[in-house]
Amino acid sequence: MVSLSSLILAALPAALALSSLPHDVDVMSRDANAAQSEAYWANQAAAQNRHFCYVRPNANGGDDAPAIMDALNNRCNSNSFVIFPGPVYNIQTNMTTLDLQNVVIHQFGRFLWSTDIDYWLSVSMPVGFQNQSTVWYFGGNNVIWDGWGKGTLDGNGQVWYDWAKSQGNLAHRPMNINFRTLKNSVIRRLRFVQSQMWTMAITYSQHVDLDDIYVNSTSTSQWSTLNTDGCDTIFSDSITFRRWTISNGDDAIALKMNSSNIAVYDSYFENGQGIAIGSMGQYNNQYEYLENFYARNITLKNTAHVSYLKTWAGISRGYPPNGGGGGYGVARNITIENVKLIGGRQQPFFAWQCENYSGFAGQDCDSSLFKMEDVAWRNVSGTVVSGVTEAVYFQCSAAAGGCDNFEVTGFDVVHAGTNQLLSVWDCFNVNNPQGFTCTESQTPKLGPDETGGHGPDNK
Ligand SMILES: *[C@@H]1O[C@H](CO)[C@@H](O)[C@H](O)[C@H]1NC(C)=O
Ligand SMILES: *[C@@H]1O[C@H](CO)[C@@H](O)[C@H](O)[C@H]1NC(C)=O
Ligand SMILES: *[C@@H]1O[C@H](CO)[C@@H](O)[C@H](O)[C@H]1NC(C)=O
Ligand SMILES: *[C@@H]1O[C@H](CO)[C@@H](O)[C@H](O)[C@H]1NC(C)=O
Ligand SMILES: *[C@@H]1O[C@H](CO)[C@@H](O)[C@H](O)[C@H]1NC(C)=O
Ligand SMILES: *[C@@H]1O[C@H](CO)[C@@H](O)[C@H](O)[C@H]1NC(C)=O
Ligand SMILES: *[C@@H]1O[C@H](CO)[C@@H](O)[C@H](O)[C@H]1NC(C)=O
Ligand SMILES: *[C@@H]1O[C@H](CO)[C@@H](O)[C@H](O)[C@H]1NC(C)=O
Repeated sequence: MVSLSSLILAALPAALALSSLPHDVDVMSRDANAAQSEAYWANQAAAQNRHFCYVRPNANGGDDAPAIMDALNNRCNSNSFVIFPGPVYNIQTNMTTLDLQNVVIHQFGRFLWSTDIDYWLSVSMPVGFQNQSTVWYFGGNNVIWDGWGKGTLDGNGQVWYDWAKSQGNLAHRPMNINFRTLKNSVIRRLRFVQSQMWTMAITYSQHVDLDDIYVNSTSTSQWSTLNTDGCDTIFSDSITFRRWTISNGDDAIALKMNSSNIAVYDSYFENGQGIAIGSMGQYNNQYEYLENFYARNITLKNTAHVSYLKTWAGISRGYPPNGGGGGYGVARNITIENVKLIGGRQQPFFAWQCENYSGFAGQDCDSSLFKMEDVAWRNVSGTVVSGVTEAVYFQCSAAAGGCDNFEVTGFDVVHAGTNQLLSVWDCFNVNNPQGFTCTESQTPKLGPDETGGHGPDNK
């Protein structure tokens, strides 16, 4: 665990950069014990003319969701300080808190979701994309939510992993939280563990910074943590991730429909798939874009890829979440640099245009009209496990005119053990590759943990 003082120093520039935010910098520089006393916070709130809510857990261990909602929706909905001193809040019912205005939340306790799967399946609320659903809608303007490295959202996910039995995309299986219409806000120093499905999605949101975030969904049984994405962005602009640690069983961070100006800095991802751009083109005849993505200083350990781009085929078969295709649009201006890869499980860089979660991925790969262009991976070094032969697998669709301006420079990824540089560059329809030469065009070789291309095992 990083020391509190270094976390505070690390968090300061982000707080200062957003001048429209409430100034809680003084508060942050006090020690964490003082920060937990009610009188201390009451004074802070009074000095700033804010409403004040100090929300203790229900004394009898009952459902804390009503009290949390009462604070965030009613008593301390605007110009407020809300403190959750802890230790444990039992979340037994779904929550909607969408209209916070100028609110600072300090969370020291653990929000622990109950394990009543039938109940959660019956109430999970639509996210509005790919039939995804959630048990908490959270939104507002000028919100700071600070977990001080202690505040935790715990989805009690093991019951979900055992229930899902490693099957993907089960209907109504909810993600932990959906940041929805959240603007000009900062989420920081929060921990997200054992998420029920995806950890979180950010939808219809702009100008949100998420700093010093810890995500860990780990299964102790034979069943996997498939679908425990760290964070997906959808219909959102200007979202910045700094200093994330993610250990999970699916995408670390994924960009989905209409995401722009997304950045990831100084982060560590392990065990999942890596950074996902997509999937795209799942909705028949719908246009979408993913543009201006930037990632820098990323370490990945035991992930499938550094990053992968994936669109559906141009032919629509079936419906989301598991079927689809026929969408079009563009993914462009995507840059990932200064990457360390430790024991990558498959091709470090991957792109393809025939996604399908129903078990038949890899068909009609030349039919998509979705364009992918201006994608650069720079200064990537490290290792892959034995069995991986390819540096890249790029399957670009002929119908889209192929991929333009794909660049790989400063590439130094070797086999662990032999120290041999990866030298197979497997491409289809890659126009003017920069920094590399395509050596062959082969149908996909399945990696060690693949059961069918990029089909059923991730989204
Ligand atoms: C809980 O879920 C039900 C069903 O999705 C929904 O009608 C209701 O508005 C939700 N309540 C809250 C507080 O989120
Ligand atoms: C996904 O949502 C669409 C639209 O609401 C619905 O028609 C379809 O049946 C859902 N699919 C699944 C697998 O739940
Ligand atoms: C994630 O959680 C597992 C189980 O608690 C633990 O063994 C592992 O060290 C954690 N990973 C990180 C990166 O903290
Ligand atoms: C890169 O990120 C790591 C955290 O993963 C951080 O410790 C390190 O200082 C960063 N390096 C640079 C040059 O910013
Ligand atoms: C995605 O963006 C495009 C271009 O602005 C727009 O036409 C489309 O409606 C957006 N899609 C959704 C579902 O909002
Ligand atoms: C590419 O994206 C970066 C942000 O990552 C942005 O600063 C730059 O202006 C974009 N370039 C173009 C040509 O849109
Ligand atoms: C290349 O990336 C490594 C991190 O893997 C970093 O330490 C180094 O400074 C980067 N080199 C340049 C020239 O940016
Ligand atoms: C997706 O997979 C299903 C089989 O599960 C298959 O029938 C369908 O043709 C595939 N769709 C595409 C676009 O490849």
